[in-house]
Parts: sequence; structure tokens; C-alpha cells
Amino acid sequence: MGTYPKLSKRALETETPVMIQIQELMRGAKDAVSLAQGVVYWQPPEQALEKIKELVWDPSTSRYGADEGLPELRQALVEKLRRENNLNKSSVMVTAGANQAFVNIVLTLCDPGDSVVMFAPYYFNAYMSFQMTGVTDILVGPSDPKTLHPDVVWLEETLSQNPVPKLVTVVNPGNPSGAFIPELVLQKISDLCKRAGAWLVVDNTYEYFMYDGLKHFCIEDSHIVNLFSFSKVYGMMGWRVGYIAYPEAVDGFGAQLLKVQDNIPICASIIGQRLALYSLEVGPEWIRERVQTLVKNRELLVKALAPLGEDAVKGGEAAIYLWAKLPDKFPDDYEVVKWLVRKHRVIVIPGSASGSPGYVRISFGGLQEADCEAAASRLRKGLEELVRDGMVQEHNGPAAIVY
Ligand SMILES: Cc1ncc(COP(=O)(O)O)c(C=O)c1O
Repeated sequence: MGTYPKLSKRALETETPVMIQIQELMRGAKDAVSLAQGVVYWQPPEQALEKIKELVWDPSTSRYGADEGLPELRQALVEKLRRENNLNKSSVMVTAGANQAFVNIVLTLCDPGDSVVMFAPYYFNAYMSFQMTGVTDILVGPSDPKTLHPDVVWLEETLSQNPVPKLVTVVNPGNPSGAFIPELVLQKISDLCKRAGAWLVVDNTYEYFMYDGLKHFCIEDSHIVNLFSFSKVYGMMGWRVGYIAYPEAVDGFGAQLLKVQDNIPICASIIGQRLALYSLEVGPEWIRERVQTLVKNRELLVKALAPLGEDAVKGGEAAIYLWAKLPDKFPDDYEVVKWLVRKHRVIVIPGSASGSPGYVRISFGGLQEADCEAAASRLRKGLEELVRDGMVQEHNGPAAIVY
């Protein structure tokens, strides 16, 4: 309508968030079940919720707090990072979630015109954070088709370019892949970054979501930033608390980070930070017990994906995601997702949103077992039909085949 020239190119040229598109689809299909959003079904620890009930009356809850986070929460996080993550030389900033942490880091480390590196399938919000901050030279590398681990040979070649990419980012364990990058591979990525003079940013949002005996780890160095979130681990999605562990040895890092923080949230929500502190006191066993309940969900969904064929399903050894390839004759994953919602009332995420058309992401964290079973049954029925008959639409006349 002639208004576009008044809007920023930065915003206009940023992808539309896939979750907003999914929410629209859900609104049009009220009884649909979601295997789409990356959420967990549990609430924060009851003991922690009980404690913060009192705090709503405390005047300090309604004031601004220190930009970098409540001192007692930061102290508890420094101890947690040492104990759980073997990070001993990191400073901490508390943010309004890991997404805001990522934007803080991009604004602190990158300039428009810099090139940055991600691996497909990538975390869509990280991609958008680059785009909307003017870091539009995003080099997307491949992952191993079987393991979904980043391709280090490609990375080595890419980091030998001039100018050297400013920053490399990975999510471990992965969203949307559900794959876990083993220590040797992550160390190799880190070594390549260090040698080239690039930053490495590792998003550890799903640090406790490990199955089948796998153990999460972090690595620490003066070129590495680690990001964390309270959202999934403690069921605190809506409370908006995450944190950055950045190298204390790098002069000025904290000071520049504070400028960004002061201009975006000022501070993370005070009551959210208090809940985070009390949840930390409950401890990781509480999380692990809940994470183990997801094993059954994963099993149900792996079975539901069987119509796609033996080799179609990857990832899922960690985080809350399975990554599945659609049959070659359905390259338009958005169309398949829309058809699954309309016809089978089940929703998943199209792989295109992560730079990988022809795939879908299935989340197994958001439903309790009985609901997950019902969702899995819809998904299986839909995929059986897709493979057998194509995307047959429902209407009053004779069946119409779209593909
Ligand atoms: C890899 C990854 N990073 C960050 C986030 C956002 O987390 P937060 O709620 O802490 O902003 C998510 C949420 O799905 C995620 O999957």
C-alpha cells in the first residue's frame, strides 16, 4: 500500500518467524495438536513457585535491577557453571531468555557487513538475529547427512577465506536436529575458530536434554561464548530468563555487552530471576527426572514417522526434536505442513525455516505421554496417506489430489 519504503530494510528483509506462521495455522484449526513448538509440558518447580508468591509485594520486585542480573543469581550461576559445565573462567550476564542473549552477543561482536557461519539445519531465530542486525552475509554450511554434525572440512575451508568470518555459531544439542555434537567435533570447531580468529558461540539451551547415557559438556576459551536458558530445563518459557557465559579474560567484553543490555531489556524481569534462583536451588535432578519422561514420547513419534521410510528420521539423541526427510516427491515442506494441519489436525515445523527444504521438525517435549500418543497416531495416519495417496484434500465432491 505504498508504506514499505518507510519500514526498515533490516526488518523487511528478515524472514517471517516460522512460529508466527504456525500460530496462524493453529488458529485456523482449533482442534489441532501441536508437535511444533519447542516447549516442555512441565511447570517450574512447585517449591520455587511457592517461594515467589510472597515476592509480588516486595517493592524490589517492581523496580529495575542491576543490568547484568541480580548479584545472588549471578553468583549461583557462576557456581553452577563451575559444577555442571566445567566453565571456570566465565563472567555471567542474565538476559530475558537465550534469544535475547544471542541478540546481545551479535550486537556486541558483529558489525553490518561481517560474515558469520551457521550450519543447516540451523536455529531459525539465530538466523533472523543476524539478518535484523544487518549481518546479512550468513554462510550456511552443511551437516553430515547421517549424524547431522557440522561439516568441519567445509568449516576449515570457509575460515581460510579473507576476510575471515567473524563468528561461528552452533546449538548443542541441536534445534531443529535433536543431534548432539560430540566433544571431539566441537573441540575441532573451536580449534578452527581460534586459529582463524573467529568467535564461537555455543547455544546450550538443551544442556540437560540428553538420552541413552549421553553426557553434555561445554568448552571454554577466550574466543568462546556459551549461552544458556531457563526456559526448557525448568519449564520457565514465559518467565524469560537466560544467561550468557562470556570469557572474563577479554577486555571490554562486559562493558560493551552492558550497553546492549541497558538498551534492550535494561534487566531481565526481577520476579523471573528470583524464580530462576529458587529453581536452581531445586537442582538438576528435578530436570533429569522430567527429561526421562520424554524418552517414551520420542519412541512414539519415531514409530509415527515410520511411513517415511527407514532412513528418513535423524537426530533425537538429545534436545526435544526429531528431524525427518519427506519423500522426494514432496519438496514443498510448507505445503505438507499445511496439509497435515488441515486434514489430520497435527502440526509440525517445516524444514525450510531452518534452511533445509523437504524436511520437517517434530518436537516431543510439549505433550504428556497420553496426548503425545494421540498426536503420534494422527501423524502416522497423515504420513501413511501422504506416502500412499499424496495430499488428498477433503471437500464435498470427489477427492482431489494436489500432488
Ligand atoms: C536453541 C534455542 N535457543 C534459544 C531458544 C530460546 O530460548 P529462550 O526462551 O531462553 O529465549 C530456543 C527456544 O526454542 C532454542 O531452541
